[in-house]
Amino acid sequence: MEKRDELYRGKAKTVYLTDAEDKLILHFRNDTSAFDGQKIEQLERKGEVNNKFNHFIMSKLEQAGIKTQVEALLSDTDSLVKKLNMIPVECVVRNVAAGSLVRRLGVEEGKELDPPVFEFFLKDDALHDPMVNDFHILSFGWATEQQIAKMKELTFKVNAVLKPLFADAGMVLVDYKLEFGTDSEGNIVLGDEFTPDGCRLWDAETKNKMDKDRFRQGLGSVVETYIEVANRLGVEL
Ligand code: C5P
Repeated sequence: MEKRDELYRGKAKTVYLTDAEDKLILHFRNDTSAFDGQKIEQLERKGEVNNKFNHFIMSKLEQAGIKTQVEALLSDTDSLVKKLNMIPVECVVRNVAAGSLVRRLGVEEGKELDPPVFEFFLKDDALHDPMVNDFHILSFGWATEQQIAKMKELTFKVNAVLKPLFADAGMVLVDYKLEFGTDSEGNIVLGDEFTPDGCRLWDAETKNKMDKDRFRQGLGSVVETYIEVANRLGVEL
């Protein structure tokens, strides 16, 4: 597969066109950003760790019957993916209260959420990714009613696969963000990434943070901790 022009440069990944019209290459960079890109640092090996971690998780989800964008691991930092038409919303599921939920509702961090909470956010850095609901998504035409239903169904299906996967490796899947797109046949397919950059993971015993909150909160050992998460799951690095 031949890598061609850059299509899009995100905060941590660059997307390249390929010689196949329906395939793209995701290149995971070492850039790590927080607070809408206000804090950016290069963390050695992060691109490689996240690329391999993402491939591992997406393969587990595929095995569970969830369609994902990922086709193949191409190199340490690159993956081949299907081209999708991305839906501009983020789907968040929360099993435990943390982050913006705690700030918004004043609930205690660490409170178990039963049932888990589902939230939509608009992908828009300039507006700081505001929370939106089904009505906004429908009214502004970001997705159809069926697509909204499917994104919710798939986001919870991911929870049913990943919560026990992390629990068996001694970690709590606190919350995570997913993004979906449509393929050429109109199917809703999981896109973007699933890595410790886009979820919260706590050690089950100590409740130590093992995700991007280490970077956001300046706790140090960011990539070292991502590698520990990968090792616990048996991801080959
Ligand atoms: O900040 P908040 O608590 O709303 O984040 C919920 C989850 O979604 C966290 O795991 C966070 O890492 C992830 N997220 C993300 N990208 C964003 C917003 C949130 O990966 N733009």
